[in-house]
Amino acid sequence: MTVSPPGLALAQPSLFDSYDLSGLNLSNRIVMAPMTRARALDTIPPEHTALYYAQRASAGLIITESVQVSAQGRGYLCTPGIHTSEQTAGWKRTTDAVHRAGGRIFAQLWHVGRVSHTSLQEDGQPPVGPVAVPAADTLVQAYDADGQPGQVPASVPVALDIAGIRQVIEDFRRAARNALMAGFDGVEIHAGNGYLFEQFINGGLNTREDRYGGAPIANRLRLLLETVDAVSKEIGSTRVGVRISPFARLADLQAFEGEEATWLALAGTLSQRRLAYIHASDLGTPDFRHAFRNTWCGTLILAGGFTAETAQQALAANEADLVVFGRPFIANPDLVERLRHGWPLAEAGREALYGGGAHGYIDYPAYSPAA
Ligand SMILES: Cc1cc2nc3c(=O)[nH]c(=O)nc-3n(C[C@H](O)[C@H](O)[C@H](O)COP(=O)(O)O)c2cc1C
Repeated sequence: MTVSPPGLALAQPSLFDSYDLSGLNLSNRIVMAPMTRARALDTIPPEHTALYYAQRASAGLIITESVQVSAQGRGYLCTPGIHTSEQTAGWKRTTDAVHRAGGRIFAQLWHVGRVSHTSLQEDGQPPVGPVAVPAADTLVQAYDADGQPGQVPASVPVALDIAGIRQVIEDFRRAARNALMAGFDGVEIHAGNGYLFEQFINGGLNTREDRYGGAPIANRLRLLLETVDAVSKEIGSTRVGVRISPFARLADLQAFEGEEATWLALAGTLSQRRLAYIHASDLGTPDFRHAFRNTWCGTLILAGGFTAETAQQALAANEADLVVFGRPFIANPDLVERLRHGWPLAEAGREALYGGGAHGYIDYPAYSPAA
């Protein structure tokens, strides 16, 4: 029998305990955050992407960087896709390498909506959104007027019509099927960070007058829910997660009336669907976090600024089932071992976060006590 010293509560469960993610056994409760690294020059994940993720396979679960589901869903140069056979084959190298190293990996499926630029879209068309309102003060990495890569303001979008909405759902379904063909253990639908789904959910922006917008919460959730259902039908709901960031206010999304009720309605509705998880950042006040935890009845993954200590506290207080680490994984491929032993963490250089080649990507060493 283990006796804890007086005054020292035994923290249960531990970050290093295994976890059953709707049938998928994770070796620990540390999740590697989705992080765009912009290394896919031609939208195909290059060979060293496989090594990058395999180096980090001791995470209980890896969630890939955002992966666009269609050419229309692309908003930045050098981000990878999963809508062509070449892209899918590129991802197979990554999932094979991660699985060989004993890891688990979900693909984060992404459509940027209005956060894009005509120079990235097929035939120079405008990007799409719920309404024809551009994201103010929002820059994307695209081509400037001289055709050179650079930061440019997001273009004015066109509002999706019903046929366009059906196509978006179909694009997610196809991407999920490709993800399974590429060997992923599941997919995460990216409904946060100001991208397409959040643009539809946001009551301030989405003033459409059809069943996909306006005041009724159910209308604004409809695109996401129909996508979740189409993807679930294709690959099984227990392989599908959803990421949200309710109060992050990214890409010019503002506070709107009834936003807490909107996100709680989403949590309640998703609870009926036996999904793998909800992954949330920016959940706002402690009261709201508590209400959200109580409304969503599945696995909750929390992200945003965790240290080993605060992550352990979140598990012990039952605020989360799994905890995400983002930036610490960049310079610490062996982050799990470093946290387990209390070894020091390396700092990532900012210059190599987005774009470039191997430097700042696959050249961070594992910790060596002798070094
Ligand atoms: C370089 C970088 C790229 C990111 N790219 C994505 C992304 O592609 N998709 C996403 O949902 N979040 C992305 N994020 C947000 C992270 O998933 C995470 O929420 C954030 O880094 C906070 O966690 P941390 O404090 O542990 O780093 C990115 C963050 C960083 C630092």
